[in-house]
Amino acid sequence: MRDAAPTTIYLKDYAPFGFHVESVHLTFELDPRATRVHSRIAFRPDPDVADRRFFLHGENLSLIVARIDGETVAPDITDAGLTCAVPDTPFVWEAEVQIDPAGNTALEGLYMSGGMYCTQCEAEGFRKITYYPDRPDVMSVFTVEIKGPHPVLLSNGNPQQQGEGHAIWHDPWPKPAYLFALVAGDLLAHPDSFTTCSGKPVDLNIWVRPGDEGKCAFGMEALKKSMRWDEEVYGREYDLDVFNIVAVDDFNMGAMENKGLNVFNSSAVLASPETATDANFERIEAIIAHEYFHNWTGNRITCRDWFQLCLKEGLTVYRDSQFTSDMRSAPVKRISDVIDLRARQFPEDQGPLAHPVRPESFQEINNFYTATVYEKGAEVIGMLKRLVGDAAYAEALDLYFARHDGQACTIEDWLAVFAEVTGRDLSQFKRWYSQAGTPRVHVAETWENGTYTLTFSQKTPPSAATPDPQPLVLPIDVGLLGANGDEVRATETLEMTEATQSFAFEGLAAKPVPSILRGFSAPVVLERETDAAERAFLLAHDTDAFNRWEAGRALARETLMSMATSDAAPDADYLDGMLAVLRDDGLDPAYRALMLAQPGQSELAAALAQSGSTPDPDAIWQASETLKQALAQHAQDVLPRILAGCRIEEPFRPDADQAGKRALGGAALALVTRLDSGAQAAAQYDAADNMTLQLTALSCLLSAGKGAEQLAGFYDQWKLDRLVIDKWFGLQIVQAAPDQAVGTARDLTGHADFNWQNPNRFRATLGSLSMNHAGFHTADGSGYAVLADWLIKLDPVNPQTTARMCSAFQTWKRYDAVRQDLIRAQLERIAATPDLSRDTTEMISRILG
Ligand code: PHE
Ligand code: ZN
Repeated sequence: MRDAAPTTIYLKDYAPFGFHVESVHLTFELDPRATRVHSRIAFRPDPDVADRRFFLHGENLSLIVARIDGETVAPDITDAGLTCAVPDTPFVWEAEVQIDPAGNTALEGLYMSGGMYCTQCEAEGFRKITYYPDRPDVMSVFTVEIKGPHPVLLSNGNPQQQGEGHAIWHDPWPKPAYLFALVAGDLLAHPDSFTTCSGKPVDLNIWVRPGDEGKCAFGMEALKKSMRWDEEVYGREYDLDVFNIVAVDDFNMGAMENKGLNVFNSSAVLASPETATDANFERIEAIIAHEYFHNWTGNRITCRDWFQLCLKEGLTVYRDSQFTSDMRSAPVKRISDVIDLRARQFPEDQGPLAHPVRPESFQEINNFYTATVYEKGAEVIGMLKRLVGDAAYAEALDLYFARHDGQACTIEDWLAVFAEVTGRDLSQFKRWYSQAGTPRVHVAETWENGTYTLTFSQKTPPSAATPDPQPLVLPIDVGLLGANGDEVRATETLEMTEATQSFAFEGLAAKPVPSILRGFSAPVVLERETDAAERAFLLAHDTDAFNRWEAGRALARETLMSMATSDAAPDADYLDGMLAVLRDDGLDPAYRALMLAQPGQSELAAALAQSGSTPDPDAIWQASETLKQALAQHAQDVLPRILAGCRIEEPFRPDADQAGKRALGGAALALVTRLDSGAQAAAQYDAADNMTLQLTALSCLLSAGKGAEQLAGFYDQWKLDRLVIDKWFGLQIVQAAPDQAVGTARDLTGHADFNWQNPNRFRATLGSLSMNHAGFHTADGSGYAVLADWLIKLDPVNPQTTARMCSAFQTWKRYDAVRQDLIRAQLERIAATPDLSRDTTEMISRILG
C-alpha cells in the first residue's frame, strides 16, 4: 500500500487525545510471515478534553477481530487507522491483528534481521504492530507476553515469567508506545551487573548473535561508566531490575532507547581491537551513554509531540558530550563536535533543508531526526548553561526532573524551569528554538587611550523556514592576549542581545590580541578581517585550546581558498605553525592530530560560496593535495621522530591516551606516505595487530594510488565480518581519486557482498560516494546519476534510509550552472518516480525548493 497525497502537520494544531490509557496488555504469537498480536487496552475518557473521537493509528495491519468490553465491534478502517463508536465510561478495547515481520523491509515496526525478530517504534512504528493512539503524549503501563520457539524472548521492563517458548515482561513505568520494544531469537548474552547508588542490583546484558560474543566487553564497560556518571553528575539512578542491549545488523539509525531494552545497530555496540578502530570505540562509548541517558531525558520525561523532539535529543546529545569530555579530553571532544557541526549541521542550516531546532511543521517526522534537532539542539543547551552558570544549570535540571517526571513535555516546560531558577526572561533566548539559519557574526575593533572595544554585528541569512530572522542572544566568550602571549584578560562571557553591540575593555597597557568565541561558545560563523600573522600568533599562544586549534584551522582554510581560486602557493605561516605544532611534545597527541587535519573539501566549498565565488571541486581537491604535499616536505625532518614517538609497545587499549598516539601517528604516516611512496605504510600494514593501525595504513596506501594487494588481502582476511567489510567498501570509495570514485562505487554495487537492503552496507557504498567531494561532483554528473539510481531502487524497500541519503544533494545551489542542471535533473527524476514514498517526496521537494 502506497502513501496518499502528503499532508502537513503543524505544531499549532496540537490537541490532546480524548482518552487516558490505563494499561496495555499485548500478546505476540511470533511467526515470520503471520505474527498475531493480541491487544487488551483499558481506556478512560478524559473529561477535560472536548474532542472525544476515538481514533487509533494502524498501518499495514490485518484486523482479525475487535471487541469493546467483550462485544465484537466493526470499526471504520482506513490506511492510517480506525475509528469506532465507544462508551463514554471506561472500557476495555481488544484487538487481534496479523502482521508480516519477514516482509517488513522498511525496518519500522516488527521486522526480522538475520533470523531474529526486533522492533523499531520511534517515531511512528508502533502503529505497524497494532492499533493504538501512537502519539508520545499517551503514556501507559505495558505488560507483554511473547510466544515463539526462540531461546531468548525480550521486552521492556522486568521479566515476570521466562520459560521455553514463553515469556512475560512488565514495565511499571508509564511510557509512550514509541519506547515499546520486543526482541526474539537465538541470542547469546554478555552478562554483567551494576549496583546503583542506593544499593539496588541491576542485571545487565548485551545480547548478540552467536559469534559476536567476543565483541561486547567494551560496550559493557561503557554502559557501567554511563550509569555511574549519570548518578554522580545528574543524580539520576536506574529504575528497573534489568537493562538489556541488543545488537541488530539491520537498523536505520545508530541505536534506540526503548525502556530497559535498547536496540543497537551492531556497528554502534560491537567492537574488538582487531575489528574496530579507535574512532569506532569512541563512538560506541558515546552512543551507549546517549541511549542510557535517555532513560531520564526522553523516557521518564518524554515529548508531548514530535515537534518537541529536541527536548529529549538536544539534551541527551548535550549530556553524552559532557560524558565524553569527562571520560576523555574535553578540548578534543569540543573540537571534534565543532568539526562535526560544521560538516553536517551548517550545510543543513544554510541550505534548502534549513529548519528550526523545534520545527513548526512536517510531512514525515522521520525526516526531522536531523543534525539541527540533535547537534544544534545540544549547542542551544550549552549556550543556556554558559549564560546561567553551572550552579543554576544544576538547579534547573533538578527542578525539571522533580516537576516533570512521568510527563510528556514541551520546550516551554524546559525553559520555564530555567526562568524560575534564575529569574531571567528567556523570551529572546527562545528564538534559538524557532529560528532557522546560522547567524553570521562580524567583529570590528577599536583601540583608544587604553580602551579596547569590540563591536559585533549579527545577521542570520533569511531562509524559507525563517524569512525574517531577529537578533539572537549570543554568549561570546572572549579573552585578551598581550604581545608576548600572556593573557591580559581572562575569559569572559559577553552577552550579546542586539543586532549590533559593543563591549569595551578598559585599562589596558597596550593593544591586545583578542581571542574571540572561545570554546565555540555559540554556533555561529565568525567573520573577522585579520591577517595570517594574527592567526599564527593565536596558533602559537592562545591559552584557549579550542581557539588555538581554530586559529590553525582558519589559516588552513584561508590558504586553501586562495590556492583553489588562484595560483597562490601554500601559506608559509600555516606551514611554520604546523611544524611548531608537530614539534611541541607538550601538546596532547590527539590534539596535535586534530591540528594537522585539513578542513574538509565540502567545508571549503561552503566557505568559497559564502565568500562569493563558485567552488570548483577539482580545484579544491588539487589545493588540498598540494597543501598536504607541501606540509609533508616542510615537516620532513620531524616526521620520523613523531612516528617513533607514537609507537605503542603496551597491549592495545581503546582509551584516549593510546588513541591519541595512534591518531597522531596516523597523521604523520599520511604525510610520510607522500615522501616514501608508501614504504612505511606497507610496513605498518603488515605489522598491524589492531584495526586502527591496519586501516590507517591501508587508507594511506589507497590515497597514494597504491595498496591493491593489501586491499585484496584485507577482504580475504575479513570477509566473514560484516562490520569490517563495511569499512572495506567505504574506504575504497572515500580514498579514490576524483576520477576513480564513481567507477569504484559502481563496481562495488556489483560485488556479491553488496547487500543493498542492509542500511549499513548501502551507506558504506553510496554514502561514501557522496563523501568523496570531488568524486561525487565529477563534471559529467555520473556521481549524481549513480546515487539517484540507487535511491530510486531503495525507496520502495526502505523509505527512511532513502530519504536521509537525499541530503547528499542539499548543497547543490553552491555549484556552477552546469552541475546545478545535472543535479536538478536527478532530483526531478527521483521526484517523478511512481509511488515515491512520503519520506523521499518531502525531502526532494524541500531540496528543490
Ligand atoms: N531516538 C534515537 C536516539 O537518538 C534515534 C532513533 C530515531 C532511532 C528514530 C531509531 C529511529 O538515540
Ligand atoms: Zn537520542
